Amino acid sequence: MTTVTDAHAVSSGPAPDPAAMRKQYRAEGLAEADLAATPVEQFARWFREAAVEAHLFEPNAMIVSTADAEGRPGSRTVLLKQFDEHGFVFYTNYDSRKARDLAENPYVSLLFPWHPMERQVIVRGVARRTGRDETAAYFRSRPHGSQLGAWASGQSSVIADRADLDASYAELVARYPEGEQVPVPPHWGGFRVAPESVEFWQGRENRLHDRLRYVAEPDGGWRVERLSP
Ligand SMILES: Cc1cc2nc3c(=O)[nH]c(=O)nc-3n(C[C@H](O)[C@H](O)[C@H](O)COP(=O)(O)O)c2cc1C
Repeated sequence: MTTVTDAHAVSSGPAPDPAAMRKQYRAEGLAEADLAATPVEQFARWFREAAVEAHLFEPNAMIVSTADAEGRPGSRTVLLKQFDEHGFVFYTNYDSRKARDLAENPYVSLLFPWHPMERQVIVRGVARRTGRDETAAYFRSRPHGSQLGAWASGQSSVIADRADLDASYAELVARYPEGEQVPVPPHWGGFRVAPESVEFWQGRENRLHDRLRYVAEPDGGWRVERLSP
């Protein structure tokens, strides 16, 4: 077992006081009339602006929050890999904590924290595993090293030390050298989150932010409601 006292000190000096960090958010807002017909089209607009105009670092990084059967929450960052009218897709290990949570309780929240644009998008919905063909197609598009990493890591399990992980990776490299096809691990795959609501949050002056939320209607359409900031 490792204790935190073994860790090397990597920085010194006092941490800044978060209470003193205060930014004034911009004046232009988000109006109902500006919204696209569906949340996925609206997401596509904002995602393009985040990636192409604002050049945000990893705009597809999102906080995925799950809860287990007892309602105990957990959050972690995961990369969005696809989105369309069917939902938002990410890939992970099916034995991980998040996947175990989702097996017990498929309700999930995805949060895109686009702070430099004073924006966030919050998707709430239901997660289902992607089909094996879809998973395999995505797995084959990954770099060779990431494919081996998916085999080497029993994600979320406790391991003895770093050396074990490196040794299992080295064994895999010997077995599947570059150029050799790596089979898709049975314990690895995607989740597609079908949205039930999607909130677009735009920071405004004096904390009077715009919050517009699409809510799924039983007929397949969307209702838009404005939330108080
Ligand atoms: C920027 C970033 C991107 C990440 N992308 C993924 C991802 O796409 N899939 C994944 O399983 N974990 C990803 N991770 C690691 C997760 O945050 C997390 O450590 C891991 O999935 C285990 O989570 P769990 O134990 O709660 O299931 C990413 C972490 C960061 C910081």
